[in-house]
Amino acid sequence: MTAFDVARIGPGEGSVAPRTRLRSDAPTQSLDGAWRFRLSPSPELAPRDEWARGETEGWDEITVPAHWNMSGFGTPAYSNVQFPFPIDPPYPPDENPVGDYVRRIDVDDAIRRVTDAGGRALLRFDGIESAADVFVNGTRLGSTRGSRLTHEFDVTGLLTGTGDVVAVRVAQFSDGTYLENQDMWWLPGIFRSVTLLARPVGGIDDAVLTGDFDHESGHGTVEVTTSAAAVLEVPELGIRADVPAGRSIVDAGVVAPWSAETPRLYDATLATASETVSVRIGFRRVRAHGGVLTLNGRAIMLRGVNRHEHDPERGRVHTTELARRDLVLMKQHNINAVRTSHYPPHPEFLDLTDELGLYVIDECDLETHEYEYVSWRGNPSDDPAWEASFVDRIRRTVTRDRTHPSVIMWSLGNESGAGCNIRAMARWVRENDDTRLIHYEGDHSSRDTDVYSRMYASHDEVRRIGEEADEIPPADIRAAELRRRSLPFVHCEFGHAMGNSPGGVKEYWELYERFPRLAGGFIWEWVEHAIAIEDERGRRAFRYGGDFGESVHDHNFVIDGLISADREPRPGLVDYAAIVAPVVIEVDADRRGILLQNRYDHVDTDHLTVRWRREVDGEVVAQGELAVPAVGPRQRERIGLPAEARATGEPRVADVLTVNAALRDATDWAAAGHVVATGQQVRTGVPLVGAATAPHADGFDRRGRPLRLGSLDIVEGPGIGIWRAPTDNDLFPGWDEPTLPPMAERWALARIDRMQTRVRSIEADAAALVVDTRVGAPSFDSGVDALWRWSRVPEGMLLELDLRSIGSWDNSWIEKAPFSWTVDWARLGVDVALAGAPLGMDFAGLGPGPSYPDTDSGVRFGWFQAAADELVTPHVRPQESGSRRGVRTAVIRTTEGGVRVSVVGGEALDAGVALTVSPWDRTTLSTTSHASLLPEPTATHVSIDIAQSGVGTATCGPGVLPRYRLPARDASFALLFETV
Ligand code: GAL
Repeated sequence: MTAFDVARIGPGEGSVAPRTRLRSDAPTQSLDGAWRFRLSPSPELAPRDEWARGETEGWDEITVPAHWNMSGFGTPAYSNVQFPFPIDPPYPPDENPVGDYVRRIDVDDAIRRVTDAGGRALLRFDGIESAADVFVNGTRLGSTRGSRLTHEFDVTGLLTGTGDVVAVRVAQFSDGTYLENQDMWWLPGIFRSVTLLARPVGGIDDAVLTGDFDHESGHGTVEVTTSAAAVLEVPELGIRADVPAGRSIVDAGVVAPWSAETPRLYDATLATASETVSVRIGFRRVRAHGGVLTLNGRAIMLRGVNRHEHDPERGRVHTTELARRDLVLMKQHNINAVRTSHYPPHPEFLDLTDELGLYVIDECDLETHEYEYVSWRGNPSDDPAWEASFVDRIRRTVTRDRTHPSVIMWSLGNESGAGCNIRAMARWVRENDDTRLIHYEGDHSSRDTDVYSRMYASHDEVRRIGEEADEIPPADIRAAELRRRSLPFVHCEFGHAMGNSPGGVKEYWELYERFPRLAGGFIWEWVEHAIAIEDERGRRAFRYGGDFGESVHDHNFVIDGLISADREPRPGLVDYAAIVAPVVIEVDADRRGILLQNRYDHVDTDHLTVRWRREVDGEVVAQGELAVPAVGPRQRERIGLPAEARATGEPRVADVLTVNAALRDATDWAAAGHVVATGQQVRTGVPLVGAATAPHADGFDRRGRPLRLGSLDIVEGPGIGIWRAPTDNDLFPGWDEPTLPPMAERWALARIDRMQTRVRSIEADAAALVVDTRVGAPSFDSGVDALWRWSRVPEGMLLELDLRSIGSWDNSWIEKAPFSWTVDWARLGVDVALAGAPLGMDFAGLGPGPSYPDTDSGVRFGWFQAAADELVTPHVRPQESGSRRGVRTAVIRTTEGGVRVSVVGGEALDAGVALTVSPWDRTTLSTTSHASLLPEPTATHVSIDIAQSGVGTATCGPGVLPRYRLPARDASFALLFETV
């Protein structure tokens, strides 16, 4: 038997030429299911010879498709840019796990009939990580390279029909690994389906059907390229045409075009006497026209996300159910585009994007990011020896997926630098498919692409890119640079959604809306790649990098999605949905009307109903539907509101007018009534509090702190807090301040996480107990002075609080600090721990979910209830979360009782307070590595903040924007505590 060669530069060998993925009526046989399996720690320890003929005594069993290290054979490992072994191409390390798979099959009769009649049989693998040798009955057919790419082997004449042995030897690492260093788990094995296909004599071995749409005439054409003369039928269009082998164009007449907003597909068949293939044609035309990205002649905005395939139990194994769930969730959150980072998805995914309506950047399986560690020395992207490997990868990508109308761009790969092989890939695409644009971010000169793409560019840079299009270029500008400036811009990754994040997305969107060249962006990323395990206590728990004993790993950098691995939307998704909403509703301050802005690119607003609702102090007092004319794409219209919508009288808490735009009819992805956009006008009331008298002294301890709030004993505090449990973003320096310590480090240096309180005086006057405290950090003389005035009022207990920042909050105290920076605060407020575990809270404020100053687009004013498990966000790595902002009044309930807290005075009357009710204190949150390790709650930790810092997106991208920072400041406000 030939030695298993996993260290040779080049594509796989022995497979047939890549073919378009078509749905055919030719017989197929799934070979998914139970296979015999044996894992060896390295190639030399793998069994010899006889295994490929079926000798598997004592072997284990594994289910295909699956990753072996998610099936009890070994453990997963996560790394990002780092490489798990030395950069010594094309060699993998000696310790290179090898998985051998064997399956004995009886060939289905239907397939046998085809081969008996002279037809062929192909053995198809849709995904094997990372390299495989394939055998049938002991005969080696060839090898695969390109883990997420399809390979087919001709097995005609090799199968006897009964008891045939299919055997596959898979190496976890290979020469191919150098081209597959995507930021994700290392998950080897046959993780996509294996299928036996019959190829009838006279069948259609390959065909491409592409719908084109001419927006000026409204006509469509179908370009057909087929390996055999056939009959094309598109019944809905009355098309029945004989098409010759080769390329031909069929006029389709007037058609309804495809777009993400109108995913109109036409069922078509292409048939010979022996085979019929079915295709769904979407008529559309993608162009980069005058620096603007267009579809069907209209500019389009990409409201995108980057999506990896990830299932917390199965890894990158696709299931229809999960793929559909992802796409439905995207559609429900106004997302219209997916970049399949960083490899072609399971083929079925593209059927769903065609059908549901999402634009796709289909990315090739390529990333050589590890070369960044060696200053890109020897990068395969620029080494001619690797050219065939690169071209093979793009060829397999494009060929498999080219019938899908939803694919509007081919992406050559990710983070692989620049070079001759990238150019060779682009050349191959240009020669073989001119119906999509070429995307690649790794070469900022854009010499080979049709769009200018960047990741995590700052707001300033994005604005400059927007402006660049209109600037008169310098006289000596190079032609290549001039060309780059003429391309539409795609922000292929921005808004890093790691932990409590991403902040500053709204500001990006304002830029995309302002400059026609900016075609939108893709949030990094859609789903967190947490892996589910059963922990010591038998509970399902999430794990991340380093949890499986990896020596090289990138910790929780793989937990950075808009949804959890279980597909629970994180607050960042709610924020994004509102930022990218296809309709914007602005309500006039006087409620006489609204401005309705249609941000759809292709459809008017006829499919929406617009309803208004006026609530006063939580009661709906009037509501109705607005008669809205069809507002055209990218148009705006003023619409009057009825008199009943107006605010009259003085509300106790708030008089709120909410205007919603919702789907008139059910779609494939949402029910009728699904809200796509909301506008509000809120008028808040000024609460009245009765006359104040001095409280009973026995209700306070010797430091002047109340013993109870409402019906709840206080177990700690109240005190003043300016720190938060660092979010992931707080732990990283923003890309805008790369040389400065991250916020969390500044806080630790200034020790605001361990402030101490000293009572300076306690005095009682006729109306209040007045307590003067100073809070400061060990070793420093900066802090916060707080004057607490506690009174009894008929409604309950009143607290008037004056806060003054003292000392300096910069780094001047560090000797010879090379840069100057300030210790901006995380927040400013009152912290108190109440008896009993939290049961939930009812609140009037911005909700229903959490928000921070720079992630507040998706919240609206209302009267909400948050259950115990909705109080904080269950981030896999615990961190600050859960703040409800703009709160006017709230009831906090614990297992011991409850208290109502209301804003009654001071500057909080304008904006309300931010209320965080958490089962854990901040020290516990910041010192616990995983959510599953957090202790059972014993108290309820409440923070009432008058101000907070935003969250930014410093893990990748800018930190908190200046306007959302919280420099040291003074504040004064008043709160009322009532028993409930
Ligand atoms: C980008 C990369 C992504 C991911 C992200 C960080 O540089 O393209 O794959 O690593 O950073 O989460």
